Amino acid sequence: MHAGPLLVLEKARKTFGGLVAVDDVSFAVGEAETVALIGPNGAGKSTLFDLMTGVRRATAGRVLFANEPIERLAPQAIARRGVARTFQHVRLVPELSVIENVALGAHSRGKAGVMSAILRLDRAEERRLFAHAARRLERVGLEQNARAALAVADYGYVMEHGEIALEGAAGELAENPRVAESYLGLGTTH
Ligand SMILES: Nc1ncnc2c1ncn2[C@@H]1O[C@H](COP(=O)(O)OP(=O)(O)O)[C@@H](O)[C@H]1O
Ligand SMILES: [Mg+2]
Repeated sequence: MHAGPLLVLEKARKTFGGLVAVDDVSFAVGEAETVALIGPNGAGKSTLFDLMTGVRRATAGRVLFANEPIERLAPQAIARRGVARTFQHVRLVPELSVIENVALGAHSRGKAGVMSAILRLDRAEERRLFAHAARRLERVGLEQNARAALAVADYGYVMEHGEIALEGAAGELAENPRVAESYLGLGTTH
């Protein structure tokens, strides 16, 4: 038994050389509470999960699970206590056909004609279309993931530049104009 929140971060910090990936982040997750962590690429989300699961060791600060410090434990020991994670990018191969479709859809924007693109005569153009498609998919993925996360969560945190920039009830965060514009794909053309 434990009193209070199940998972607590107290000024958790992780630096990579001079780069501060997680900048003294504090928060608490209660038992049976679903919490969403959203934010742009490079915000520090994955590193934060690494600190919670022992995959990386915090430079400073504490991680407590059921009132016990876990920041010095090995990942296996943390997992045995019930802290687990899943990973992104588990379906890379199916995504290939998606990116091909998006690149194909971008042909009309390309400088090379459709025929030369189909015949793969213009490799540079093909690379450009694929790079564009990848950026577009990443953006859509970010928006859909953030929307889905806030839809199922009770509470949410928005992480930017290693810090918690915004937090609140998930429903309120989803309505927040700044969140909607930056992470949910509303009110912007992109
Ligand atoms: N192993 C690493 N070495 C150096 N820098 C890293 C490493 N892992 C992540 N970073 C940097 O830390 C920051 C946060 O990255 P990350 O936690 O992956 O963000 P997110 O998951 O929100 O996209 C980024 O600037 C990233 O480049
Ligand atoms: Mg990440």
